[in-house]
Amino acid sequence: MYRMGEEEIQAVTEVIASKKLWRYQEGSRSQQFERDLAAKVGALHSLVLTSGTAGLVSGLAALGIGPGDEVLVPAYTFIATPFAAMALGAIPVLVEVDESLTLDVADLKRKITPRSKAVIPVHINGLPCAMDEILTVARNNGLAVLEDACQAMGGSYRGQRLGTLGQAGVYSFNYYKILSCGEGGALVTNDAELYEKALIYHDAGCSFFSPAQKVKTPYFAGSNYRMSEILSAVLGVQLTRLDGLLADLRERKAHILGHPGLPRDWVPAPVHDALGDCATKSGFIVKDHESARRIVELVNGAHFCVQAECPLDTSRHVYTNWEAVREGRSPLKGLETRRYAADACPQTLEFLGRTVYLTVHPDTPMEELDQALAQFPRLLA
Ligand SMILES: Cc1ncc(COP(=O)(O)O)c(C=O)c1O
Repeated sequence: MYRMGEEEIQAVTEVIASKKLWRYQEGSRSQQFERDLAAKVGALHSLVLTSGTAGLVSGLAALGIGPGDEVLVPAYTFIATPFAAMALGAIPVLVEVDESLTLDVADLKRKITPRSKAVIPVHINGLPCAMDEILTVARNNGLAVLEDACQAMGGSYRGQRLGTLGQAGVYSFNYYKILSCGEGGALVTNDAELYEKALIYHDAGCSFFSPAQKVKTPYFAGSNYRMSEILSAVLGVQLTRLDGLLADLRERKAHILGHPGLPRDWVPAPVHDALGDCATKSGFIVKDHESARRIVELVNGAHFCVQAECPLDTSRHVYTNWEAVREGRSPLKGLETRRYAADACPQTLEFLGRTVYLTVHPDTPMEELDQALAQFPRLLA
């Protein structure tokens, strides 16, 4: 969560004062947010829901993914990505990441089987995946593409917003994200039928409530991931902060990447579309994991405005730490599952271990950032 203030307090106060806390009432904040979000990212349809995970599960359900289907996911993402497939009885197939730490297209091709039904490219850390190549592979192999843009709200690929390139895309608005309401998510798509199916799945009661009951698609069993009006009110304000936030993040990342204080042997990590990068993290490739660890220790020990991290050591995003995925512990009994050894994706571990991310809050004054970076040569000597 980057920015939040009086406007959000005001929006929440208004909702509570109105006593209209349900999305199907007149003046719905949820419906307004859906219209605003769709316009912002250039999608025809948008559905706000309780989390990014809810969006991924609803998206996969709308794509018809079910027991026995294989869903290709990167080995570096939040654990919710493979769990979304498992929630529907599908089998997550782990794919290596490339040096940008997004889905490796060569390994994606290798992992496709006749049972592969969908791929979930994850725009991790706000970094766009190689979407042209992924969309081509998906088209050639009959795979649906559900973009996990949970960490990439507002980013783009060749001028098109992340989340709108595949059949559907999902954003998260949890505490850690670019925009936040504490917990929340959204699904966007240009496919009317897919939207209706996601709407049906996300709200078990929608057949009884107007305007949701106007869908043309036959109803099927759904769940309840309906969003609260209070949180949608927060999101409505958060969306107005997006452009300024991205501009400030990008200004700081450009400054970090070009700073003369950084060691010459740090190679900026490749990005598939630098212009569309959300710039939440500045990635560098260093010699090895040991060097990465040392850098992290020194930078964080200095308590600058800049923090450092080695993605191999961020537990919940690395497949080796996904015990339930690796053991195939599905919530649905009697289904086929798959197990993964710790060395199932060695390339991913190699690239994660050699990457150092620097992060800085977008409100940090540029002079302060500059002063911190200027101290790196002495700090790392
Ligand atoms: C890449 C990725 N996918 C999915 C999710 C799940 O989002 P949520 O926490 O809103 O359910 C997250 C959240 O951390 C994420 O970072």
